[in-house]
Amino acid sequence: MASLLGTDGLPIRDSGIWAKEKLHYLEHYLNIFFIGMRKKWPGKLYYIDLFSGPGRCHIRETGEEIDGSPLIALRFDFAKYFFFEMDPDCHKALDARIKTRAPNKNITLTQGDCNQGIGNIKPPASPALGLAFIDPTGISQISFETIQKLTLNRRIDLIINFPEGMGIRMNLHQYTGKETSALNTFIGTNRWQGRFQEALTSFPQACHEIAAEYLENLRSLGYQIVDGSQIPVMTNQNRLLYYLLFASKNPKGNEFWKKIGVINPHGQRKLFP
Ligand SMILES: C[S@@+](CC[C@H](N)C(=O)[O-])C[C@H]1O[C@@H](n2cnc3c(N)ncnc32)[C@H](O)[C@@H]1O
Repeated sequence: MASLLGTDGLPIRDSGIWAKEKLHYLEHYLNIFFIGMRKKWPGKLYYIDLFSGPGRCHIRETGEEIDGSPLIALRFDFAKYFFFEMDPDCHKALDARIKTRAPNKNITLTQGDCNQGIGNIKPPASPALGLAFIDPTGISQISFETIQKLTLNRRIDLIINFPEGMGIRMNLHQYTGKETSALNTFIGTNRWQGRFQEALTSFPQACHEIAAEYLENLRSLGYQIVDGSQIPVMTNQNRLLYYLLFASKNPKGNEFWKKIGVINPHGQRKLFP
């Protein structure tokens, strides 16, 4: 990782303004989730961050330094936290920040590939309710098989950075065989390929179908995804970067998610929430 340092002297993640937007939605959701669930699930709520980063982000456009997803989650009182980070420098920085911010919390921080380490997550005794934030930088970083393993026989809500714009739409036309197979591993199936070959639709249409296939695959794991549950995150030129996609096995989770989409990070209420 580039060695940009934060005010605490540790590496921080250099990010575009959209990271602030994404983290706004995460924090907003955690607020609603916590208020709604803490009494019902005392000592049973847990948080998973599969792509934690170093814990702090530098926003290029504004020069601000803000908490990244793991440090935002530490503001809430989850019974257990499971953080994964592959990059050794990011891992070290996060480890140091956790020790300063939350020395007494029950945190398992793993350095390495979350796809390999997914089996090491040990939630509070059942019944427990988890929330996983899944924020890769590319489709090759997480397989659908990992999502299957993460969610099998568990009640766990998912917030997924689904890279329909950045990772898929911008690159689909130039995918090589290797990249196509990375996309299949990410989606979990390759039905989209058949449809794409049968009728050459537009790229936006193909991307839409790929996203729809991902949602279908999540549904096959017991997730209910309601229409309009995806929040688009755009660049400052108003181009789609990715969707934040929410999935829950319980309709209540979807209700919470719909609430967070109503007001955007600039405080503006959407016309058609
Ligand atoms: C988009 S950043 C995460 C940002 C963080 N969620 C935040 O909001 O501050 C993705 C991070 O995942 C890490 N990473 C990439 N592949 C990984 C993998 N397979 N397992 C765990 N971490 C990974 C990268 O080193 C990077 O720090």
